[in-house]
Amino acid sequence: MEHLPIFFQIKNKPCLVVGGGSIAARKVSLLLKAQAEVTVVSPELCHELKLLQEEGKIQHVAREFEDMDLENCVAVIAATDAPRVNERVSQLAQQLRVPVNVIDKPELGSFIMPSIIDRSPVMIAVSTGGSSPVLARLIRTRLEGSIPAAYGHLAQLVESFRDKVKAAFPNVKSRRNFWERILEGTVAELVFTGHGDDARKLLQKAIDEQSEVPDIPGEVFLVGAGPGDPDLLTFRALRLMQQADVVVYDRLVSPAIMDLVRRDAEVIYVGKERDKHTMQQENINQLLVRLAKEGKRVLRLKGGDPFIFGRGGEEIELLAQQGIPFQVVPGITAANGCSSYAGIPLTHRDYAQSCVFVTGHLKDGTVDLNWKALAHPNQTVVFYMGLHGAPTLCKEMIAHGLPASTPVALVEQGTTPQQRVLIATLDTLLDVIKNEDIKPPTLIIVGEVVSLHDKLKWVEEHHENDVDGVFAYK
Ligand SMILES: C[S@@+](CC[C@H](N)C(=O)[O-])C[C@H]1O[C@@H](n2cnc3c(N)ncnc32)[C@H](O)[C@@H]1O
Repeated sequence: MEHLPIFFQIKNKPCLVVGGGSIAARKVSLLLKAQAEVTVVSPELCHELKLLQEEGKIQHVAREFEDMDLENCVAVIAATDAPRVNERVSQLAQQLRVPVNVIDKPELGSFIMPSIIDRSPVMIAVSTGGSSPVLARLIRTRLEGSIPAAYGHLAQLVESFRDKVKAAFPNVKSRRNFWERILEGTVAELVFTGHGDDARKLLQKAIDEQSEVPDIPGEVFLVGAGPGDPDLLTFRALRLMQQADVVVYDRLVSPAIMDLVRRDAEVIYVGKERDKHTMQQENINQLLVRLAKEGKRVLRLKGGDPFIFGRGGEEIELLAQQGIPFQVVPGITAANGCSSYAGIPLTHRDYAQSCVFVTGHLKDGTVDLNWKALAHPNQTVVFYMGLHGAPTLCKEMIAHGLPASTPVALVEQGTTPQQRVLIATLDTLLDVIKNEDIKPPTLIIVGEVVSLHDKLKWVEEHHENDVDGVFAYK
């Protein structure tokens, strides 16, 4: 190792920053986060530093650096744009054994500053030894995504129960097992979703029962998996996908997304294709209740967003009635995913001031919508499940006043490598659906915004020979 990673306690201790520009300001704000007493030596201060000085958060010495400035400080950062000054600060600090960092010259300093992920009191530092700050930042971004923002709260909870757990589990191994179960289970999830009191109660219960696996009911995660591209999953969706004991999923969840669920989880396909439901909705609702009552963590994975034409409301209604804990994780709905990947903005200052999402498929198989409200020239209408009802859709939109030449987009398997976008008009839509053999899942977008597709498209169309799973961009 070129450097020893350590965490330095500088609370209420004097630290010096030499330089008053924006880079110095970034370092100052870090030092202030760690509650240091910061003095900045520089003839001038940038706007950010001036504000800090006015708020009394830093001391400013308005002149060039002088040797005596180093007296009494516990660390110094040289951040001027004058190499000679930085070198002088470094040389002197090392003589006096004051830890020194020199911006952009790691070799001149005695310490370097890492990229950090701050989940205080949990702190993760990433360093490339000064060789590539950009790489360190990229690594940091990856870690940021996989570590929930509420990790700090979890650490605080652990801290406040540490002594109690130590007393209840004097044996080191069983104590470690206990904490592992707690930190990977429901207690942690409760903290992440803002239910700190419930988490505390459950943890106390587990301690009282001296059990490594607290006797708790299962729970259901109702998670939106987005329209198909796994990159569009939320961080929370991904985390819960990797925790579930059992996964209940339907047709719209893409294989690429199913690849990301925990390897050893039980998976149950509940289908749902038009006119051939693998499992009736009522039975799906009951299944979730049964699995949760068996104490399992159940991932109910749905395409798009669970609350947009996803019947998510019905599924959690029964869970709520039965007192089964659940959480709902939003997903990117097909309208957002398909419009973005097709280069069709759903609203646009010149073309559409409103946007409506409607279903083209009603319970009894009819299409019975308020056509007068939908057929509006400055509005985009997005039809989910609209293929079957397309003849009615075209007829009614024209009958209620939209020109037959109104542009319409068909987005088939949007956001996946198989995405196809076909542009028609209200009077040619049925021919395009037939001639191009359009299949579900397809989204129909009606409105003038569709004319922008030609200019704004950025995802390459799918070709037969494309390699599966690889996206082509224009
Ligand atoms: C039962 S709805 C589910 C909608 C989902 N909850 C959502 O928020 O996107 C199914 C319809 O959504 C649309 N859809 C879902 N995913 C799609 C995709 N990847 N491409 C095109 N349309 C999609 C299709 O119109 C499909 O018939």
